[in-house]
Amino acid sequence: MEEKERPVVEMEHITKIFPGVVALDDVSFELRKGEVMALLGENGAGKSTLVKILSGVYTKDEGTIKIDGVDVGDVTPQSARKHGIAIIHQELNMCRHLSVAENIFLGRELSKHGILSSKEMEKEAERILSSLKIDISPSTIVGDLPVSKQQMVEIAKALSTNARILIMDEPTSALSDKEINELFRIIRDLKEHGHSIIYISHRLEELKHIVDRVTIMRDGHFITRADFSSLSMDQIISYMVGREIKEKFPHVETPVGETVFSVKNLNAGKMVRNVSFDVRKGEILGIAGLMGAGRTETTRAIFGVDPKEGGNIHLDGKEIVIRRPKDAIKAGVVLVPEDRKKDGLCTKLSIRENIALPNLDMLSDKASVIHSRKEHKMVGDAISSLSVKLSSAEANAASLSGGNQQKIVVGKWLARRSRVVIFDEPTRGIDVAAKVEIYNLMNRLKENGIAVVFVSSELPEILGMADRIAVMCDGEIKGFLQRGEATQEKIMALATQFEKKIVEVEL
Ligand SMILES: Nc1ncnc2c1ncn2[C@@H]1O[C@H](COP(=O)(O)OP(=O)(O)OP(=O)(O)O)[C@@H](O)[C@H]1O
Ligand SMILES: [Mg+2]
Repeated sequence: MEEKERPVVEMEHITKIFPGVVALDDVSFELRKGEVMALLGENGAGKSTLVKILSGVYTKDEGTIKIDGVDVGDVTPQSARKHGIAIIHQELNMCRHLSVAENIFLGRELSKHGILSSKEMEKEAERILSSLKIDISPSTIVGDLPVSKQQMVEIAKALSTNARILIMDEPTSALSDKEINELFRIIRDLKEHGHSIIYISHRLEELKHIVDRVTIMRDGHFITRADFSSLSMDQIISYMVGREIKEKFPHVETPVGETVFSVKNLNAGKMVRNVSFDVRKGEILGIAGLMGAGRTETTRAIFGVDPKEGGNIHLDGKEIVIRRPKDAIKAGVVLVPEDRKKDGLCTKLSIRENIALPNLDMLSDKASVIHSRKEHKMVGDAISSLSVKLSSAEANAASLSGGNQQKIVVGKWLARRSRVVIFDEPTRGIDVAAKVEIYNLMNRLKENGIAVVFVSSELPEILGMADRIAVMCDGEIKGFLQRGEATQEKIMALATQFEKKIVEVEL
């Protein structure tokens, strides 16, 4: 066998059972030296569980794991490091109150004469970050960084251990196009140096840039393994989903009526400047823009998470004042936020509680007694309308796969009788079939006369689903495009209308 063909990882007959769920059933997996292997499957298929077994986070119930042809028994976090295995988790799990350098060296702090040396760590972190051409200061507190930068720190952290088997569980879900290109450059570089990479992603269109082979799973089962170039995208999708998906963007035409929701001259910090838009009955207003254009900040200011400096909001022709999220929810304005772990979900609470808690006003009577039949129905509807894969609604939200957590964040708001629903990147980390479910939900909302605002970084879905598109850059709306006239090029032209800033030269 050629050196290149030699498997570095062989997993055979892997089975893993969680209470009530067979997460993996007789799964096999193989990874060769110097290849990028994509691991694909719908939400809850078992991808994260499989790589967690390989990196020592979980212990397998059955099966064998061979590294370089040798049966290594169960992998522990320590033995994973010894074998050169590092994982970048799907859910960022860094210490938000520690610095970038401290996070990179967490658990293996560099010390001089037994004393922790933060200088040394910062120097070494600086070296790693700059070798990856990542522009972040090692002394920054991680919690102050945007999600995209935090993800880059995770990547730097994994690479800093000199791992030769790198696992990336949805590394690009929070990255901008530029950062994704950076990451792909790093991946190609690593590949050339003989590293092997397991790459998990729901962004199927990006696979062609880096992937050699694919392994496809469905419902805890191994489905197939093949050269990427031997499969068409439709074949990959039907292996993942078990059926064909006819319409990826099921846009529906609805007669457009009067204005339901209107934002006038909204100002909030640098990133929200004089933002004005209307959303009419029967339409989905898309908000496009590059990372950092101010889209999330706009949604947060509207919803009352961040303070407004000025501006008016009208709902059904009447002015409403939103100082806090509570005011917004009361008025019928809801936000499905971008960062599900931070803003959207309590992973320590049950799935039922996550859906019911923000809706207690609807579920309880005047004496604050919860109507359990109503609760049961609301929770059941939310779960079934988005096909959430779970063992029981009483399980902790933490036990859900990443994409299914996202569905709960979306689903809990949809249970309300809202007038305006603002979605901020609702399909991030969600598989192809579930994306269509979310689009259909948006359609149902707009058909019911609810104003839908849809923030997304993925141009195909904005173009596919929005009736009108506002494009932001530098905290301002630079223009509106009608469905039909909008193209990727036109959006990008508006999204890059940066003001000509005078660059101060340091002397
Ligand atoms: N700690 C846990 N406790 C209980 N069940 C779990 C746990 N972790 C995963 N599961 C269940 O195992 C199954 C597989 O989950 P896994 O996270 O591996 O899916 P995934 O393929 O990574 O999905 P996604 O694309 O949504 O991230 C799911 O049904 C999930 O709910
Ligand atoms: Mg996962």
